[in-house]
Amino acid sequence: MTTKNKKLQGQVAIVTGASSGIGAGVAKALAAEGALVVVNYASSVEKAEEVLHEIKQAGGDGFLCKADVGKEADVLDMFRETISHYGTVDILVNNAGLQSDAKFHEMSVEQWNRVIGINLTGQFLCAREAIKEFMRRGVVPGRSASAGKIICMSSVHEVIPWAGHANYAASKGGVMMLMKTIAQEYAPLKIRVNSIGPGAIRTPINYAAWQTPQAYQQLLKLIPAKRIGEAEDVGRAAVWLASDDAEYVNGITLFVDGGMLLYPGFEDNG
Ligand code: BGC
Repeated sequence: MTTKNKKLQGQVAIVTGASSGIGAGVAKALAAEGALVVVNYASSVEKAEEVLHEIKQAGGDGFLCKADVGKEADVLDMFRETISHYGTVDILVNNAGLQSDAKFHEMSVEQWNRVIGINLTGQFLCAREAIKEFMRRGVVPGRSASAGKIICMSSVHEVIPWAGHANYAASKGGVMMLMKTIAQEYAPLKIRVNSIGPGAIRTPINYAAWQTPQAYQQLLKLIPAKRIGEAEDVGRAAVWLASDDAEYVNGITLFVDGGMLLYPGFEDNG
């Protein structure tokens, strides 16, 4: 592919939580399409370095940025650093997220706050700074048809209730309305805000669900496509949503879930 054909050539993308899992996959996919990628991480600098190394090996570019997205001061610093380095931000992938599972009656307020703090407040803080920069810059002809793009990493659990994960499901339900509301508010300024709703993707967050053949067989009962998803599946969706191919797409959740939302329990029942 020549440089000219790359879908995100020269655009600046911040990917939060890019040191592993879906974030790493998305960071590499955006970089492969010519985006300059800010590889955000909260703690694991070695893993983030590995991701940036792979990006560079493949001919891409970017830099590492440590920030806890749940902390306002960290988020402000990350945007300041990105803008002073590259001049602007075109794409935000609000990916950083975690699970801290517990039966609801045993869930501590710390567990609740930690998950909401990263998964929901973290997305609010990053989106707010991105929107400010998109408004300041506006549309630059030849760069992108949009003034800026935000992709929120949601989950099938923005719609599927999930026993034992009330904090996580609540955070993703919140992300859905956050995404839609910002999309509605800023569409007139040519800012696009969408979500990706991954199903089960092979990453550290759900290791227990695929690590043994028994667990994997159980998991497949929930996936009509009969395979677990890979970070690359999500990466391709992110490239499309961020690109001008999706210029008229705003306020949606694109589920990348092998059909998990199709009520697979009804396949041979009901
Ligand atoms: C969760 C994973 C889970 C998947 C499908 C994701 O949002 O983080 O742990 O495997 O949803 O249930």
